[in-house]
Amino acid sequence: MTRTSAPGVRVKDLTVVYKTPAGELPALGGVSLSLAPGTITGIVGESGSGKSTLALSLLNAVQPPGRIKEGSVEIDGLGNVVELTGEELRRARGRQVGYVFQAAQNSLNPLKTVGKQLLDLGRSHDFDDLPALLKDARALLGRMGLDGGRVLDSYQHELSGGMRQRVGIMFALVLNAHLVVLDEPTTALDMITQAAILKIVRDVHHERGLTTLIITHDMGVAAEVTDSLAVMYGGRVVEHGPTTEVLGSPRHPYTKGLIRAIPRLSGDIDEARALPGRPPTLGTIPKQGCVFRERCPMRIAVCDTVDPEPVTRDARTVACHAVGRPATPIVPKEYV
Ligand SMILES: Nc1ncnc2c1ncn2[C@@H]1O[C@H](COP(=O)(O)OP(=O)(O)OP(=O)(O)O)[C@@H](O)[C@H]1O
Ligand code: SF4
Ligand SMILES: [Mg+2]
Repeated sequence: MTRTSAPGVRVKDLTVVYKTPAGELPALGGVSLSLAPGTITGIVGESGSGKSTLALSLLNAVQPPGRIKEGSVEIDGLGNVVELTGEELRRARGRQVGYVFQAAQNSLNPLKTVGKQLLDLGRSHDFDDLPALLKDARALLGRMGLDGGRVLDSYQHELSGGMRQRVGIMFALVLNAHLVVLDEPTTALDMITQAAILKIVRDVHHERGLTTLIITHDMGVAAEVTDSLAVMYGGRVVEHGPTTEVLGSPRHPYTKGLIRAIPRLSGDIDEARALPGRPPTLGTIPKQGCVFRERCPMRIAVCDTVDPEPVTRDARTVACHAVGRPATPIVPKEYV
């Protein structure tokens, strides 16, 4: 079945583990997140926070040594993708969920031209109008500043990293999937081209009526293109809400720290401060209590023992013991 309208997505209590010499360790520790139909959601967070693992889960594409241990990913029109297997899953990927995985610039087949790969993709999804597919691909590439005809006739090695990333974005959009997942889709591009390409992604999102998820390290990028913003830390979504509100009045101490570190968002170049400390790795994510506590200026006693549940209030979800409840933390001056 092909959907003709933007789907909603509901991730619930998702736990994904990776097998390590120390046993199976959680990269996602019970994540819940909803994507409203027709919106662009951004996911931000430092390296290792679980952004890509979450993106892969939306396609049930977590590979060994990883596995989805618990939870569900409901996509309108597809059902719970965690339960899809084999042919059903293959058909959903590309046709119903378009995607660019991280480092996608290295995922083209080196032995076939881009055009040949596109035709293979179209055939594998039973497209009967292949000339229309090629035409749309040329148009998308053209919008992203490339000579579409020439790119389709090229092999991977004839394209720069930035060109390959734009080819990846074209592949994510060209099958007209109504859910599009883009994991760091523009990192090989300079800042100005990045902004231009993401603006095109946003335009196509509106023209085609999509639900889009964009993962980025860059809060500035997120501010410009997303409607809704989820902030990840240590395998949790610690804050989620409308982008303007999350950036304009962050509630979670981690979101506050991230924003304070970016002069063009905090609005004060002299006051920009890097977040102290480093994010946890799989082996150092605390087994109990709040995952952010080692770096948190708001830490209170309960943070050491109880992992805070996400609480939703006024369209904002925050997982923090100190938000929305009376507490008397000792707050260092620079955080006030
Ligand atoms: N194949 C793997 N084997 C073992 N651990 C893994 C594997 N892939 C990811 N991890 C671990 O899972 C955690 C989450 O990784 P993930 O790639 O989802 O983070 P991320 O937020 O996308 O990071 P980045 O910003 O660097 O892309 C990290 O601690 C990472 O080291
Ligand atoms: S739960 Fe506690 S440690 Fe965690 S972010 Fe909130 S105040 Fe800080
Ligand atoms: Mg990643």
